Amino acid sequence: MTIRWFPGHMGKALEQIEELIKRIDVVIEVLDARLPFSSSNHKLAALRRTKPWIKVLNKHDLADQVVTKAWVREFELQSGVRALPLSAKKHADTKPLIKLCQGLVPKRGKPGMPIRAMVVGIPNVGKSTLINTLAGRNMAKVGDRPAVTTTTQLIDLHNGIVLNDTPGVLWPEMSDQEGAYRLAASGAIGDNAMDSTSVGYFAGEYLLRRYPELVTGRYGLQELPGSPHDLLVAVGRRLGCLAGGGEVDLNRAAEAFLRELRAGRLGRISLEEPLPAVTVADEGDVE
Ligand code: G4P
Repeated sequence: MTIRWFPGHMGKALEQIEELIKRIDVVIEVLDARLPFSSSNHKLAALRRTKPWIKVLNKHDLADQVVTKAWVREFELQSGVRALPLSAKKHADTKPLIKLCQGLVPKRGKPGMPIRAMVVGIPNVGKSTLINTLAGRNMAKVGDRPAVTTTTQLIDLHNGIVLNDTPGVLWPEMSDQEGAYRLAASGAIGDNAMDSTSVGYFAGEYLLRRYPELVTGRYGLQELPGSPHDLLVAVGRRLGCLAGGGEVDLNRAAEAFLRELRAGRLGRISLEEPLPAVTVADEGDVE
């Protein structure tokens, strides 16, 4: 599989973010709750130094709640890290985030001494949506450009917190193939970056194994398809993705399947889970 995606223009993003972090009190990293590990950039850990770090597990409305809880537990084992699932589109969901910022920086948040926060994360995780919801108005969408520029303005949230008006844009690391597939399945890296049929097979294989009842339920199937290929054929027939001669057009079927998955039409789905902890007893069992 070839990934046709390279954010060459993001080369300076880390340097710029490192500079900005020196002037802020709390880092709000936005992750996709469906794939919190693969949607992070692990270099941020070194940049934030000892600054409090909130990992927002956004798009909580699309993710499996049980898995999200496991991620929150996992992240909060890390020193100085708090994790919060939310849907950035919902104003009420952002209130706990404000409270968390206030609790993490108790010495600031006073007149003339606001808590300075910045939002960072890879493209498409919902950074702009979160900033807009927090600000209560539409700020500029930054797309996938490194948006930490000298023109960054502070938005007063009128609750003792000021926020950069543009988020720090990191790039997904895609160091392993599975992670790249998960990012593609979630829509984070764009449809022209990877071949849709391969991504559809990957997502299909995972869903058949992990969420079989959601698959049969969504497509009204009596039996679970035996393979990702059979699943895409069944989906293609159901959604009318046909080529000449009545055969299923696999690429169109994969695209339709991925659209459904991303929009949450199959149900709440997480694409990755924390690794189970290795206990001393487990280690002892290894020959
Ligand atoms: P970014 O700044 O990190 O690049 O992401 P952005 O806010 O642009 O959000 C990327 C997509 O994710 C948008 O959808 C946005 O609506 C959606 N999104 C953000 N937060 C949430 C959430 O909590 N739940 C759900 N379900 N979706 C969320 P889009 O289709 O690209 O744009 P649009 O249809 O909203 O215009």
